[in-house]
Amino acid sequence: MFELNLDINHFLDTYWQKKPTVIKKGFIDFEDPIMPDEIAGLAMEEEIESRLVYKTDQQWQAELGPFSSFEKLENDGASLLVQAVDHWHVEAQELVRPFRFLPNWRIDDLMISYSTAGGGVGPHIDNYDVFIIQGLGKRHWRVGDKLAMTEFAAHGALKHCEPFAAIIDVELEPGDILYIPCGYPHEGTALEAAINYSVGFRAPDQNDLLSSFADYSLDSNEPSERYLDREMQMREKPGQIETQELNELHRVMLAKCQTPAALIPWFGKMISEAKHELDIAEPEQPHSSAEILALFDEGAQFTRIGGLRAVYFEREPQLLFINGELFNCEGFTELGHHLCDQDEVGSELLELLIEDKNALTLFTQLVNLGYWYAT
Ligand code: SIN
Ligand code: CO
Repeated sequence: MFELNLDINHFLDTYWQKKPTVIKKGFIDFEDPIMPDEIAGLAMEEEIESRLVYKTDQQWQAELGPFSSFEKLENDGASLLVQAVDHWHVEAQELVRPFRFLPNWRIDDLMISYSTAGGGVGPHIDNYDVFIIQGLGKRHWRVGDKLAMTEFAAHGALKHCEPFAAIIDVELEPGDILYIPCGYPHEGTALEAAINYSVGFRAPDQNDLLSSFADYSLDSNEPSERYLDREMQMREKPGQIETQELNELHRVMLAKCQTPAALIPWFGKMISEAKHELDIAEPEQPHSSAEILALFDEGAQFTRIGGLRAVYFEREPQLLFINGELFNCEGFTELGHHLCDQDEVGSELLELLIEDKNALTLFTQLVNLGYWYAT
């Protein structure tokens, strides 16, 4: 169990998306939930995204996993980075929980890096907000101001930014946390063998949102309003696009997403889709509803698999979006919202499940899909 040693309201008011900060001893007596050999083990798996970064003759090198050997990590100056470890490692997944003071839909994933002395990925800018937790070892971090900056590929799989002046220059020790809002350049260099945990938060920009919305609209068979100009008048300047034509084009485009409610089906689906492979816990044989109740009766609780994204909107509370799919919890929103708000379902919901057949049917379906598993 990791407990944040942080005044959350002060942090949100002063730093969240405003400026980077160091939270010394953010976790008191921090103990690494994962060992370097386990990180390497994950980097051997086909479905897990990993990267090895090192230098040869002062040239940055980056290789993409899966890896079958790790000789590079026997030398100084190397880093192994593994993405979405919260999907695969139950103990490491626990590191996401302390950050649930922020909404689940904003959480991206837990990335873990293991570096040898001198290791790092170089100066770069991320498109997400991140809490970097220091585990094993010590690491020197520099963070610069959010200024317009040139970015370039230091290697095919490694984007860097130009050198920057530091506004934070710090040595992180186990349990310290560095918070970096998106867009601030930063660079970490291990002072000795070190593990870092990055809890990342998505911050979609207009291009991300518009392109995803357009993809969704293309895929859905909803009617698509066409630009019409039935009131056409003879034109003296055929090269000109008139202001009222531009206004009409603007209206046609906006009509698709005129109200916040019109965004719900798209955004719910998009934001609940996992960007990385999930470790689906499908039972060998599908459970019947009676079996689910029997398991509760025996004292089991059900845990949501790591990284599963489940959300609902305050505005349409009966709609649940789970792993990119829409489910309806009309009449049993208490269960539906519990599934999205909490990691576990325990006996506190047993009465509701016994009394409401629809609630039990939905929960049984979700267990059979491998999204919740009995522990
Ligand atoms: C790392 O852990 O090496 C990379 C973290 C980051 O800079 O985003
Ligand atoms: Co970064």
